[in-house]
Amino acid sequence: MHPTRLASLLIVASLAATSLASSAKDTPAKPPAHKPASPIYGVVVPDDYRQWQLVGVATEDAPLDELRAVVGNRIAIDAYRLGKLPFPDGAMLVKLAWKRQRSAEFPPATVPGSATTVQVMVKDSKRYASSGGWGYGRFVDGKPVDKAQHETCFACHNALVKARDDVFTKFMP
Ligand code: HEC
Repeated sequence: MHPTRLASLLIVASLAATSLASSAKDTPAKPPAHKPASPIYGVVVPDDYRQWQLVGVATEDAPLDELRAVVGNRIAIDAYRLGKLPFPDGAMLVKLAWKRQRSAEFPPATVPGSATTVQVMVKDSKRYASSGGWGYGRFVDGKPVDKAQHETCFACHNALVKARDDVFTKFMP
């Protein structure tokens, strides 16, 4: 092959690689091949959610008997602070949950026991137009639960908190 031809081919190939890489970054909802994605929505557990800010906490009675914390990425936290609804594209919320148990060191306190689920909501108004703009994922030990469970997410969120863009948790000061 002629050297200039080869050079331009290489440039085209590297441009294509760059645009692939940047589009993957801009659309966090698109699952990288190595991460297990939720059925229906194709949502994955975001890499860095343990660095995100706290939105609020909750507990639920038996049988689940859980303690929960909801965290949000920068886009979600900014929207909360500004009271911006609907949440903009790119907003992500993660709900962590643990079994609740009595503190061994200080019995009046209830503390987290073993981790139960990690749940994710990703805003992408085009991709998830038919579910209020949110994609949903529920994970146990890093693996998504079945399709039937994912069919319940939007129904419950939309039935009960439609006026808050299908998001239950309020920002706690
Ligand atoms: C029967 C109602 C119900 C169903 C079904 C449901 N959720 Fe939720 N979800 C809640 C409630 C209530 C909260 C508020 C926090 C709490 O009480 O734990 C919540 C909170 C969340 C949050 C934190 C953001 C927010 O809205 O507060 C995420 C993320 C989430 N749920 C994901 C899911 C996913 C994924 C599914 C489906 C696999 C799902 N939920 C199914 C009721 C529901």
